Amino acid sequence: MQGKRILLIVGGGIAAYKALELVRLIRGAGASVRAILTAAGEKFVTPLSLASLTGDKVYTDLFSLTDEAEMGHIELSRDADLLVVAPATANLMARMAAGIADDLATTALLATDKPVLCAPAMNVRMWQHPATRRNVETLQRDGIAFVGPDAGEMACGEFGPGRLAEPAAILAAIREHFAGRAPTGALSGVRVLVTAGPTHEPIDPVRYIANRSSGKQGYAIAAAAAAAGADVILVSGPVGLPDPAGVTTIRVETAREMLAAVEGALPADVGIFAAAVADWRVETEGGQKIKKQKGAAPPALALAENPDILATIAGGAKRPRLVIGFAAETEKVIEHATAKRQRKQADWILANDVSPDTGVMGGDANTIHLVGAGGVDSWPQMSKIEVAERLVARIAAALAQSPRA
Ligand code: CTP
Repeated sequence: MQGKRILLIVGGGIAAYKALELVRLIRGAGASVRAILTAAGEKFVTPLSLASLTGDKVYTDLFSLTDEAEMGHIELSRDADLLVVAPATANLMARMAAGIADDLATTALLATDKPVLCAPAMNVRMWQHPATRRNVETLQRDGIAFVGPDAGEMACGEFGPGRLAEPAAILAAIREHFAGRAPTGALSGVRVLVTAGPTHEPIDPVRYIANRSSGKQGYAIAAAAAAAGADVILVSGPVGLPDPAGVTTIRVETAREMLAAVEGALPADVGIFAAAVADWRVETEGGQKIKKQKGAAPPALALAENPDILATIAGGAKRPRLVIGFAAETEKVIEHATAKRQRKQADWILANDVSPDTGVMGGDANTIHLVGAGGVDSWPQMSKIEVAERLVARIAAALAQSPRA
């Protein structure tokens, strides 16, 4: 978080005092904080206390001429790397959801082109009210992230969800945001199916056709999805990796077994096909070990094509809402991946160059180009674990934008 700039919007609520602790924590983590205090917020904390802790002027008034001369509200909202609304009151979120800009806070939120994280705080009945439910859903669809609220005893004496998340939890959500990770629980209630590893296609009882896939990328994705709260089923070919914690792992050998296991695991909300499935199997597997025949020509292996698991599931009746495939290429990476995305009816293809000199196959790093309907997003080289975390954050954002019908 070193050097990051946070614009903190403090709404009105009994929990506003916790914003002061949050400022201290954010600055302690190396980021700077500039604060906007709403008129209601001023009833709970003073501009002076916020200014002392941020070490900066506190912005309160939309129409202050000096503020506009120093920094307009548009600039104020775009100068930050992240906007954090804490506490986000029911009223503030309702205005955000409706696109109302009637004070400095809501104007900055409407004018910004930066990500926004909301930490709601309100009475439990207000949190559960259908209007607030609707507003939260709208904001999630707009790509706004949430942390909390927590459940517990409230200042008003009632009990339930509505308490502002603890400042340390808000700081953790900010850190997760900058690390490109999905917020904790972002995939709770979501069923994710992952295929990983190679498949082994037997030639005879002792020999098989295989490939160099280690399974590391698929396993990292399964683990990252589980860490984000998803219910994860991993269908894995033969690899030397332990079952990821908190994941249901089904081990298979061949492509046909993998397809059967995947079909058995459906329905799922998200399908991620990271396995390096063998394209061919030996047409007739020998029941006995093939022996060398003195003087005879080596045996010819007749191959049959394996089912395409990704294409079968993407085109099937139980298609997950989000289907993600990989494209392992050694040349024309994006061109081939774009064609593969259409041919296999995937929503996204994560393309990577697996030429031997890249060290991707079996290695710990990966360079990904995410090919979607809207174009290509090229990620810098990162570890397979970071790729997994970034993918899971993308999935959480995509699901939030198109919630279940
Ligand atoms: N895939 C699959 N079943 C197969 C082959 C591939 O599910 N029988 C999936 C992989 O898991 C991956 C995607 O399809 O998500 C692309 O795999 P890749 O090996 O790159 O593509 P192929 O279909 O094998 O195409 P080609 O060999 O022509 O590059």
